[in-house]
Amino acid sequence: MQPSDLAGRIALVTGAAQGIGAAVVRGLVEHGAIVAATDRDPIGVKKLAAEYETGRVVAYPLDVTDVAAVDATVTAIERHLGPIAILVNVAGVLNTAPVVELTDRAWADTFAVNTTGVFHTSRAVARPMLERGAGSIVTVGSNAAGVPRTGMAAYAASKSAATMFTMCLGLELGRSGVRCNVVSPGSTDTPMQRAMWTDPDAPHRVVEGDLASYRTGIPLGRIADPADIADAVVFLASDRARHITMHNMYVDGGATLHV
Ligand SMILES: NC(=O)c1ccc[n+]([C@@H]2O[C@H](COP(=O)([O-])OP(=O)(O)OC[C@H]3O[C@@H](n4cnc5c(N)ncnc54)[C@H](O)[C@@H]3O)[C@@H](O)[C@H]2O)c1
Repeated sequence: MQPSDLAGRIALVTGAAQGIGAAVVRGLVEHGAIVAATDRDPIGVKKLAAEYETGRVVAYPLDVTDVAAVDATVTAIERHLGPIAILVNVAGVLNTAPVVELTDRAWADTFAVNTTGVFHTSRAVARPMLERGAGSIVTVGSNAAGVPRTGMAAYAASKSAATMFTMCLGLELGRSGVRCNVVSPGSTDTPMQRAMWTDPDAPHRVVEGDLASYRTGIPLGRIADPADIADAVVFLASDRARHITMHNMYVDGGATLHV
């Protein structure tokens, strides 16, 4: 990748206030993009935008579960910044519980953000992309979408649905030149991941595996940095990946032994 690969492109990132979303914003800016950083946490995205020269990262408060707000924000971004060339769906929530203890609310909230949120933003952005005959959509899924995990049924199912949705969209938009891909991270050092670390040995167990929960560990022997995920996203968003669509790129250090 060259620093100018995304020069002047307008990118919309959801869930941009922290963790992987903030790293994706940084990666896109590093390669020349102008980024609409959106999140339901308005202070977080404002702070991130303030790190850059005015106009490089523009903060928009946006809850992806609110379809009217999604449509209005996409219209506002296109009016203020220009045509959106790149959408990165990062916003996500994790609710963990064994299925027999999972509440209706936790199930619905998980799907509202992780699946329906991806539908809302992708549909809103796909419409103008289709008209222009260009664009790239990247959805951040999870390696949990491809391997069963205890306590993660709602999350894994919601991510599987978002992954297949993105693939179907890629098929529909292929002839128009719009590419749609998925990046599936494994354990990545973010606030979401740290919320699962209930004791000091937890990161060690993530790396080494835990047979009691049928987890085999991470062959590369480390937990990912958010920038590791962002690098894959930026590549797939760029013209360097111009012949890649409907691809699911696992960035999990080999944790799911995926072929
Ligand atoms: N961290 C991991 O180990 C890991 C592994 C696999 C996949 N992922 C996925 O990567 C993505 C980013 O995860 P992260 O670890 O950076 O999480 P995080 O919790 O640190 O950050 C998620 C961001 O999404 C935002 N968000 C949540 N609900 C939203 C909504 N309704 N509308 C708009 N924004 C909303 C939050 O405010 C937050 O800024 C998620 O989709 C997550 O499922 C993370």
